[in-house]
Amino acid sequence: MNEPKKPRTNLSLQSLFYTFLFSLHLATSALARPSDGVIISQADYQGLDAFKHELTDPRGVLRSWNGTGLGACSGEWYGIKCVNGKVISISLPWRGLGGSLTEKIGQLTSLRRLSLHDNFITGPIPSAIGFLPDLRGLYLFNNRFSGSIPPSIGNCVNLQALDLSNNSLIGSIPSSIANSTRLYRLNLGFNNLSGQILTSVFLSQSIVFLFLPNNSLSGSIPDKVATPSSLKEVSLANNQLNGSVPTAIGSLHQIETLDFSGNSLTGDLPSSLSNLSSLVVLNLDRNQIEAQIPQTIDSLKNLSILSLKGNRLYDGIPNSIGKVPTLTRLDLSENNLNGSIPISLVNLTNLVSFNVSYNNLSGQVPVLLAQKFNSSSFRGNIQLCGYTPSLPCPALSPSPVPSPLSSPPSLPSHTNNKRLSTRDLILIITGSALGLLLLLFCILMCCLIRKRSSNSVSPKSKQAAAASGRGEKPGPAPETESGGGDLGGKLVHFDGPLAFTADDLLCATAEIMGKSSYGTVYKATLEDGTQVAVKRLREKITKGQKEFETEVGALGKIRHENLLALRAYYLGPKGEKLLVFDYMPRGSLSAFLHARTPETSIDWPTRMNIAKGTARGLAYLHDSASSIHGNLTSTNILLDDSLSPKIADFGLPRLMSATANSAALAAVAALGYRAPELSKHKKVNTKSDVYSLGVVILELLTGKSPADSVANNGVDLPNWVASIVKEEWTNEVFDTELMREADGDLTGDELLNTLKLALHCVDPAPASRPEARDVLRQLEEIRPEGGGGGAGEASTSNV
Ligand SMILES: *[C@@H]1O[C@H](CO)[C@@H](O)[C@H](O)[C@H]1NC(C)=O
Ligand SMILES: *[C@@H]1O[C@H](CO)[C@@H](O)[C@H](O)[C@H]1NC(C)=O
Ligand SMILES: *[C@@H]1O[C@H](CO)[C@@H](O)[C@H](O)[C@H]1NC(C)=O
Ligand SMILES: *[C@@H]1O[C@H](CO)[C@@H](O)[C@H](O)[C@H]1NC(C)=O
Ligand SMILES: *[C@@H]1O[C@H](CO)[C@@H](O)[C@H](O)[C@H]1NC(C)=O
Ligand SMILES: *[C@@H]1O[C@H](CO)[C@@H](O)[C@H](O)[C@H]1NC(C)=O
Ligand SMILES: *[C@@H]1O[C@H](CO)[C@@H](O)[C@H](O)[C@H]1NC(C)=O
Ligand SMILES: *[C@@H]1O[C@H](CO)[C@@H](O)[C@H](O)[C@H]1NC(C)=O
Ligand SMILES: *[C@@H]1O[C@H](CO)[C@@H](O)[C@H](O)[C@H]1NC(C)=O
Ligand SMILES: *[C@@H]1O[C@H](CO)[C@@H](O)[C@H](O)[C@H]1NC(C)=O
Ligand SMILES: *[C@@H]1O[C@H](CO)[C@@H](O)[C@H](O)[C@H]1NC(C)=O
Ligand SMILES: *[C@@H]1O[C@H](CO)[C@@H](O)[C@H](O)[C@H]1NC(C)=O
Repeated sequence: MNEPKKPRTNLSLQSLFYTFLFSLHLATSALARPSDGVIISQADYQGLDAFKHELTDPRGVLRSWNGTGLGACSGEWYGIKCVNGKVISISLPWRGLGGSLTEKIGQLTSLRRLSLHDNFITGPIPSAIGFLPDLRGLYLFNNRFSGSIPPSIGNCVNLQALDLSNNSLIGSIPSSIANSTRLYRLNLGFNNLSGQILTSVFLSQSIVFLFLPNNSLSGSIPDKVATPSSLKEVSLANNQLNGSVPTAIGSLHQIETLDFSGNSLTGDLPSSLSNLSSLVVLNLDRNQIEAQIPQTIDSLKNLSILSLKGNRLYDGIPNSIGKVPTLTRLDLSENNLNGSIPISLVNLTNLVSFNVSYNNLSGQVPVLLAQKFNSSSFRGNIQLCGYTPSLPCPALSPSPVPSPLSSPPSLPSHTNNKRLSTRDLILIITGSALGLLLLLFCILMCCLIRKRSSNSVSPKSKQAAAASGRGEKPGPAPETESGGGDLGGKLVHFDGPLAFTADDLLCATAEIMGKSSYGTVYKATLEDGTQVAVKRLREKITKGQKEFETEVGALGKIRHENLLALRAYYLGPKGEKLLVFDYMPRGSLSAFLHARTPETSIDWPTRMNIAKGTARGLAYLHDSASSIHGNLTSTNILLDDSLSPKIADFGLPRLMSATANSAALAAVAALGYRAPELSKHKKVNTKSDVYSLGVVILELLTGKSPADSVANNGVDLPNWVASIVKEEWTNEVFDTELMREADGDLTGDELLNTLKLALHCVDPAPASRPEARDVLRQLEEIRPEGGGGGAGEASTSNV
């Protein structure tokens, strides 16, 4: 992480944009010179100088901040970005900086982003922050700032993200903090802030994420919220809040996460809670709430986590909880609940964690629950039975599903009673029928859920997209021209865990990972440390905007464990296009195979798992997503942490113009993955994809790169392999390390059969080639999951 020596490699995506736009500009007007706006203004220079002098810099990160400041705005000063000679961004996270933050920061009057998180900076947050009217993002989390939050922050009326979490801040939250009508994310957690939570924060219409956990906030939670409110996630956990859960909570129609755990809340639960149909997480652990669990709990259609541990809940567990099939975690432990555990809970097939311990529950635990969860989920209920063999329920209610280990005659209570054993038989049959029904139900639910998730753009994502556009003028606004924080573009998220704004994306730290015929790929690190892969498509190679958006929308819905997920796209005001994917730290299969040290060997089970995963991804693409890859190579098969392959770049031809696609095809030809028929007609189809798959499998078997074979002797990999096989030197084709491993046993057959299959895939006649699903089936026959002689990491099947 110590990169001050080559600061130029770590540009932000935004500055890469500028470079790009700038070179376009150069091309159109040869007279334009880069001097415009490069010389830093005097005030900004002094501001930066003071900034450097009040910090300590043990790693020498700021060594490049030298001389007269001439280089400050031309990209030579590490971490600085300017527009027109004014500093707009300082981004120095994770740089080991100490010392304090100067008040002279106020001289950088065009500053939009100040990111110094994860350093060791002490002292107060300068009140001169209030002199920065353009400030949009202030990220000072994970430092050692002390003192209180300056009320002058209220002057930063464009503030979108304020994260001061995990410092040592004290005092109260200034009421001006919600002055910005664009405030989107506010995180002041893990400090020692005291005083009340201000109504103004809850009345903000723009705020989406509100995190104030682990402070010393007191008083009650405001009983007023904005209408409409954009709040999606609220955490006030681990403070000293009292009073009751406010009724106004019922108006937070977009809320997904409510965490009030670890406070001193008392009283009843408001009935308006059941209005929160978007709620996914409700955590009220460790309070003193004295209430019944709401009977209408089942109106929370998306509830996944319900945690009410350590309160004073009384009466029974309502039957209706069984009608919230989305529940995955249910913790009702350490309350005063009585009555029995409703049998309806067995309908919660997604439940992975369940706890009703330390209540006053009685009766029998439903058998399926007792089987699924261990006794620590139930203990501490004196009258509860049937959850552990040492606490059987009274004889009148025998366990309907006997343990497979104990046959009826060995059960003493059942001996010499013929009628009872008939009854047992009936119970067993009913039990299995019920089991079968449940299984069917599970499968149905799974299908339903899968279908739902593949068809919908997540609300979270829509929200993030909407919020990032909120308050921005549509189309290229004046500030767009100056190349500022929000370029006035459009960011669309697809289903997934990411929720960044356009500004976050464009200001992310970026490193070039590679280039392809469609564009350049960057590794981008977002403010919270999340890494994503961003592909910037070349200019003028895509279809028109409307068609592009339709196609990219379809690609964004494709989800499979062996296909790299497209998480978002960004359309810039000048036609720039960015695609955001999951970042795969292990890199490509090509690098994995060909760029390793001689000592690292890759065993057969690992190679076979990669082949299977790739075939599985391709089969899904062809059969379930009705899509063609068109450009499968080992460079766009990426590996995740467990070496499971993810196919990247699928469906990209759908976004591109015909000319761009033929250029890309030519590039594939040079790499040796292109099916021979494509040199005549240029139409890619499932069979040409299977050809490329065959080449990839040959690559796994031989350890040779197809590009090398083309370059070295003019013979492509399939022909080279075929010629050797014909001469019956078959074993010569395999990677030598695989031969060592094979040593005449089972693996030898697996290698040979896989080789036959791969040669089948690269048959010159497209019609003779198998389909991807056939390849997958045969690979699974050659080496069944977890089978063969190996202890390879068997990748889990998705079916
Ligand atoms: C300033 O720093 C840059 C980068 O570290 C270095 O190349 C340059 O020589 C330095 N200039 C002066 C005047 O020290
Ligand atoms: C708080 O910051 C420290 C470093 O200052 C870091 O080690 C720690 O993990 C952070 N805690 C949280 C909860 O982020
Ligand atoms: C911010 O809010 C404070 C009080 O809430 C108010 O006095 C001040 O005028 C506001 N500032 C701006 C610039 O709106
Ligand atoms: C937090 O602040 C309160 C005073 O508001 C003080 O009593 C307490 O010791 C502080 N806690 C920590 C962990 O600094
Ligand atoms: C937050 O507070 C809770 C309760 O006091 C404590 O258990 C937890 O460790 C705290 N978290 C951090 C990161 O300090
Ligand atoms: C809540 O706590 C504050 C002190 O922090 C106290 O003044 C107030 O009376 C308490 N309210 C309730 C309802 O307990
Ligand atoms: C909650 O929904 C009920 C109807 O089910 C409605 O009467 C009530 O006004 C709603 N409450 C809030 C706070 O939105
Ligand atoms: C519940 O979640 C699903 C899928 O995430 C989503 O489509 C739906 O809109 C959500 N429902 C509500 C009421 O938020
Ligand atoms: C549960 O407790 C309540 C009092 O909290 C009592 O009225 C009720 O009868 C009890 N129910 C059962 C089944 O014991
Ligand atoms: C489980 O759900 C099904 C379908 O909603 C319902 O018919 C059945 O009664 C439920 N089972 C229990 C025990 O509540
Ligand atoms: C548990 O419930 C029984 C009645 O069902 C009652 O007699 C007993 O007092 C309760 N115990 C506690 C600890 O609440
Ligand atoms: C259930 O809760 C109790 C008490 O809070 C705890 O001791 C136990 O470990 C929990 N069990 C599970 C399985 O979470």
